[in-house]
Amino acid sequence: MAVLRRRNRDQAVAMIEGAIERARQESRTEFYLGVARHDDDRVIGFARIGLSGVQAGKLGYAIAAQEWGRGYATDAARALVTYAFKELGLHRITAAIGPDNAASIAVVQQLGFAREGVLRDHVFTNGAWRDSVLFSVLAHEWSW
Ligand SMILES: CC(C)(COP(=O)(O)OP(=O)(O)OC[C@H]1O[C@@H](n2cnc3c(N)ncnc32)[C@H](O)[C@@H]1OP(=O)(O)O)[C@@H](O)C(=O)NCCC(=O)NCCS
Repeated sequence: MAVLRRRNRDQAVAMIEGAIERARQESRTEFYLGVARHDDDRVIGFARIGLSGVQAGKLGYAIAAQEWGRGYATDAARALVTYAFKELGLHRITAAIGPDNAASIAVVQQLGFAREGVLRDHVFTNGAWRDSVLFSVLAHEWSW
């Protein structure tokens, strides 16, 4: 989730079709939560947890720019993390975030994630290697 890419319409359709296809699989490896506007129910983003490792998951989210700052990402991430601990039995959830992504860091900090450290040259994006900051929360730390 540390990689942010601008997609055209065909790429967005392919991404959504891929997510729907993977959601149909018997042993699911990822879980998406669609985010819709309060007033007209229009879809404006998502939160996602991808299973990885032993009872562990990686959290990500994105919200349409015109809706930023209204609490949608925090709400969606809170609901999905609760689901992942309660229903999927996960033990540990991480989020790897670009050091300059203040809004995303604010989201996980608001939810009580702890900062673990820096993943050096974690992603290759826009022609360069970039660090990520790793945050995590454990099941026993989560209040639901
Ligand atoms: C990160 C992202 C999902 C946040 O979505 P959002 O719906 O605006 O998030 P919320 O409104 O729940 O919370 C955002 C928080 O960041 C804070 N924030 C926003 N811009 C900020 C900035 N430049 N500096 C510091 N804090 C900032 C807001 O004040 C808010 O905190 P608050 O509730 O304490 O006021 C959204 O910016 C986004 O889609 N970005 C592009 C994709 C992305 O980076 N995804 C995460 C990859 S790790």
